[in-house]
Amino acid sequence: MCGIIGIIGKEPVALRLLKGLKQLEYRGYDSSGIATIYNNTILRLRAEGKLSNLEKIVQATPPSGNTGIGHTRWATHGLPTETNAHPHATDKVAIVHNGIIENFQDLKKELQQQGVVFASQTDTEVILHLIDKQLRGGKSPEEAVADSLNRLEGAFALAIAFADYPSLLIAARKGSPLAIGYGNGEMYIGSDAIGLSPYTTKVAYLEDGDWVVLTTDSAKFFNARNEEVVRPIKTTTLTGAAVGKGEFRHFMHKEIYEQPTVIGETMGVFCNFSTGDIQLPSMPFDLRTIEKITLVACGTSYYAALVARYWFESITRLPVHIDIASEYRYRDVVVAPNSLAIFISQSGETADTLAAMRVSKAAGQHCIAIVNSPESTMAHEADAVIHTRAGIEVGVASTKAFTTQLVTLACFVLALASIREKITAEERIRLLHALSEVPSRMVEVLHNEEHIAQIAPLLSEAHDVLYMGRGTSYAIALEGALKLKEISYIHAEGYAAGELKHGPIALIDEHVPVIVIAPSDSLLFEKTASNVQEVATRGGKIILITDAKGIAAMGEITTAVIEMPAIHPFVAPLLYALPIQLLAYHVAILKGTDVDQPRNLAKSVTVE
Ligand code: AGP
Repeated sequence: MCGIIGIIGKEPVALRLLKGLKQLEYRGYDSSGIATIYNNTILRLRAEGKLSNLEKIVQATPPSGNTGIGHTRWATHGLPTETNAHPHATDKVAIVHNGIIENFQDLKKELQQQGVVFASQTDTEVILHLIDKQLRGGKSPEEAVADSLNRLEGAFALAIAFADYPSLLIAARKGSPLAIGYGNGEMYIGSDAIGLSPYTTKVAYLEDGDWVVLTTDSAKFFNARNEEVVRPIKTTTLTGAAVGKGEFRHFMHKEIYEQPTVIGETMGVFCNFSTGDIQLPSMPFDLRTIEKITLVACGTSYYAALVARYWFESITRLPVHIDIASEYRYRDVVVAPNSLAIFISQSGETADTLAAMRVSKAAGQHCIAIVNSPESTMAHEADAVIHTRAGIEVGVASTKAFTTQLVTLACFVLALASIREKITAEERIRLLHALSEVPSRMVEVLHNEEHIAQIAPLLSEAHDVLYMGRGTSYAIALEGALKLKEISYIHAEGYAAGELKHGPIALIDEHVPVIVIAPSDSLLFEKTASNVQEVATRGGKIILITDAKGIAAMGEITTAVIEMPAIHPFVAPLLYALPIQLLAYHVAILKGTDVDQPRNLAKSVTVE
């Protein structure tokens, strides 16, 4: 997902634009650039690849100018080259963009027929030329932007600078998020509060369809109908320090180690372990009327939903429908009356999940967003929001956001089951006690990291790896395969252990490592054990993740084992997420990949 920064400052901004872009590196990108306004000219510097390439150019000859914009680009249209890097500019206008303009081909053709010559392959450039032509036709910057925005279809977050207006920036938002920062005689634009954290903690958020006119000390917001509106100024808790790596080599590694703490903090928000009470945020509907649950998400968040499906069914006794957001949003979903839809998203900005939630809202479903970003669009539009409190997750591969989603869902399930009188107070307290053990058990698992790292070479040269499990361990198998794929680039698949014999077992030979996730206290352990035997007899290289009892039962047919603490099966997914995260991390280290910003990936996919 692209990153946007803009500053109207009291002093030269070039180096501060870079600082803001560095805060947004976690979003994933493949080129970057800045543009400043000086002496009625636009000074622009861009570079392919990492931000350090741009830094070298800017630091060599920092462009003058107290107003400027910056961008990290995650390519959607056009190769990740310097020519396609933002900002795009004429001699009058410079622009940076996050999103996709769906009608850009038609607009491009129209502009070309009017004699416009395009320099790039991007969709963004059509916005630039629409505004430029309006300006040259005598419109003010505000009018030129307002008229041009009306021509655009699709999603955009924009920051626009003008050569002849050095103390003016205009920003606009439709779909992709954008924040405005308030400084002392300075104003800022950022993709999110993290990008603005080096400058200010006072931010206001554009709503969908908004555009805003910034001067050195003011922000004027307009809605899609060009009516002036007020957007509240909030104080964010994000600070630049919050996104530091500390003594860790990678953000992902740091965030894996933060899990015991953030799991404890998240539980502490909902659970009173002394009384056994669980307090959910207030909701504008009566949970007792709910007769069906729908769970929708993408990627790792979808695997959290998959774990929760087992919990909802077995503990609340409610029927559950689950789907990935990119499918759900385009299906002719049949929404049952009295059904509750839960949308899970770390960023709260994932385009498919947001669109799916809008489909459910339009169909009249009650919608809850479980998000790690309380200021996100999903948080803003849902009927109720549950915040997972993982803290900023910078690594593109989700770790602590995943386990805090799980613990949040676990608390929700217990609270709902209690409200529906499907579990007794004693049963709730017993399961709460199991949850309370998780942080300390996680610390035990992290103490075993060195052993897990020693297993990584068994996978690092493989071309294909299989993960398998049953029940909630099946969801962890899918998550383990995704972690390995996305940070080590090794092909991996997760399977329900019972499904292997229906085809995938044909893949098994001594070159295909099989990771088995099998806590022994699960009722499914025996079934999984027979699946492991089937793999072993075909020469499969088995890496077994289980507890002491599980090792005693089938350790001798494995190539390696990762011993886990014994734990209640209800909370096993929370704990078994850690070894699959660490395994993927150490394989990626061996492969030498960019662990925190894997190729082709973005932290939040705000485009379809
Ligand atoms: C997980 O490691 C990936 N980064 C990706 O699958 C992610 O979970 C997915 O894009 C959903 O993101 P969200 O939770 O912000 O909606």
